[in-house]
Amino acid sequence: MKKKLQVLSIFLVLTSAAGILHAEGNINAGKQKSASCASCHGENGNSLVAAFPKLAQQHSSYLQQQLHAFKDGKRNDPMMSAMAMALTDEDIADISAYYATQKVSENALPTPDSDDTADKSNKDIHATIAQGSDLYRNGDLKREVSACIACHGPFGEGNKPASFPVLKSQHADYLIKTLTDFKSGARSNNAENIMHMIARKMTDQEIKAVSYRISMMK
Ligand code: HEC
Ligand code: HEC
Repeated sequence: MKKKLQVLSIFLVLTSAAGILHAEGNINAGKQKSASCASCHGENGNSLVAAFPKLAQQHSSYLQQQLHAFKDGKRNDPMMSAMAMALTDEDIADISAYYATQKVSENALPTPDSDDTADKSNKDIHATIAQGSDLYRNGDLKREVSACIACHGPFGEGNKPASFPVLKSQHADYLIKTLTDFKSGARSNNAENIMHMIARKMTDQEIKAVSYRISMMK
């Protein structure tokens, strides 16, 4: 426990220092510059395709971090790496400032997977969401899965000063994909690798359940 707190406090110092380094951008300029992002991330950062994350209402410091990570090759995605490479630091600050001011749209209830016979009814969807809700709030101490609420907040609003991302109303499919990437280590651009330490303890079912729950948070 003591070690965990130490890790967390060192982490908070590092991330708040990182926060100071990120300049705030120009919202109007960012709106213009985001035109090339809309084909995937949607108008106002509310993408309609579940594989493309919503960017609306996300903390600008977190958006900046991720765009720099794509640009520097620390986070990899065939589509995003090329897009980020073309952005200057000023573009990144402006676009991030713009998306942070947009409102994230709500999601419909997840639909049962067609290949998952255990999950064919709405009743099972609600049971899965309840399982995700419990994990989000309480974690699983025995298996060292930390409660998500501690960093991502009771409403999935994240933590702006610490640059912990907003999660609420994100697409479930993207959440499942990115948690699986944290689990495997494919996504590891955060220096402390906090999400890898958490996700590697989670089962695929837990990842799905918590993703469903988060996608329904408003
Ligand atoms: C061709 C489609 C495409 C375009 C165009 C595109 N993106 Fe993306 N973007 C993606 C995909 C796919 C991901 C998820 C990558 C992953 O799974 O790691 C992503 C992820 C991101 C993320 C990380 C979000 C998070 O929650 O961690 C940011 C920030 C982002 N994009 C910003 C932009 C910006 C800014 C532009 C325009 C300059 C842009 N994207 C253009 C497909 C695209
Ligand atoms: C100690 C703080 C902490 C805890 C606890 C925590 N997270 Fe995170 N989470 C982070 C940080 C920091 C990031 C940003 C990681 C990065 O920059 O790569 C993050 C990123 C994420 C992302 C990526 C968001 C995006 O838009 O791509 C998801 C999804 C996520 N966390 C889900 C969870 C879930 C689910 C739990 C609980 C099982 C959890 N987190 C617990 C700190 C935490």
